[in-house]
Amino acid sequence: MVGAVGPSFIWKGGEAETFVIFYLHKIQKLFQSDVFNSIFQIEPEKEIPQMKKSVLSYVLVGLIVCCMGAVAWAGGHGHGSKAPKKVGILLVAFGSSEASAQVSFENIERKTKAAFPNTPIRWAYTSHIIREKLAKQGQQLDSPEVALAKMQDEDFTHVAVQSLHTIGGEEYHDVRRTVGAFKIMGGFQRIVLGYPLLATQEDMERTVDAILKTIPKKRKKNEAVLLMGHGTHHPSNAFYAALMFQLQQKDPNIFIGQVEGYPELDVIQPMLKAKKIKKAWLMPFMSVAGDHAKNDMAGDEDDSWKSILTKSGIKCEIVMKGTAEYDEFVDIWVDHVKGPMGHF
Ligand code: CO
Repeated sequence: MVGAVGPSFIWKGGEAETFVIFYLHKIQKLFQSDVFNSIFQIEPEKEIPQMKKSVLSYVLVGLIVCCMGAVAWAGGHGHGSKAPKKVGILLVAFGSSEASAQVSFENIERKTKAAFPNTPIRWAYTSHIIREKLAKQGQQLDSPEVALAKMQDEDFTHVAVQSLHTIGGEEYHDVRRTVGAFKIMGGFQRIVLGYPLLATQEDMERTVDAILKTIPKKRKKNEAVLLMGHGTHHPSNAFYAALMFQLQQKDPNIFIGQVEGYPELDVIQPMLKAKKIKKAWLMPFMSVAGDHAKNDMAGDEDDSWKSILTKSGIKCEIVMKGTAEYDEFVDIWVDHVKGPMGHF
């Protein structure tokens, strides 16, 4: 029966010692036997006395133990060892080349640092176009893949990847895939992705409150607030309508439309008309007041929301600030970093 003699060959932590002792004992016995003479080709007349053999065997076993110890020590300080714990945060934004966005990103970094004072923070932009644009201006920003590879190179063992996206759309899921790939590669002991702005019901409620708090005080209740979300073909586009539903429980004249997803302005416009709205406050519901806010929302072109609404008899007031410029929204993202950090 295999395994009937001696310890099991399956190395399970504490069994290792038993294994080593068992075989060292065997080696020692071997050196004390006649095999010793044949190995070292000792002629019978010059045979070493049993006493000397015994001492020699102990010396040899001692040497083997020393060698094994040295190998184990070298292993412990190199390949296969558990590296000392080093936690890092990777903040991942869509990215922006706008100057106002840089202020927002600095604000996010400052707040993240305040919440996790001893944790190094790195940045990545998911947008290839923005990264290229910035590179031409001499500003080097990493993709999540490159940023994580660099963190691996810097010996980080635990990484909290925090999405600064609004919903769990395509960009967020791309980051998810990247995080998954790094998990499979096993370069980090742990790598966890944090939720975007809107994920749970609690996030929805906090975002409703953040919107209500950031609407200009001058706005009267009979005036509409029309938020411009980005929108997507991704199933998570439904978050915008769900948020509008919850906002309207508290203030029925707040609307959310999308530039690139349902509901677009042609769906919202009849709602404004039915409520006989005379004035609307246009605000971006995007982290950065970038190209969409400047042109599609507030531009002078005929097809901007401002132009279309003004033409239909609704006076427009513009608020040119992205959600990442307000602490109320930033706090939600920063709180989401606690999710992955709680796993470390
Ligand atoms: Co866009």
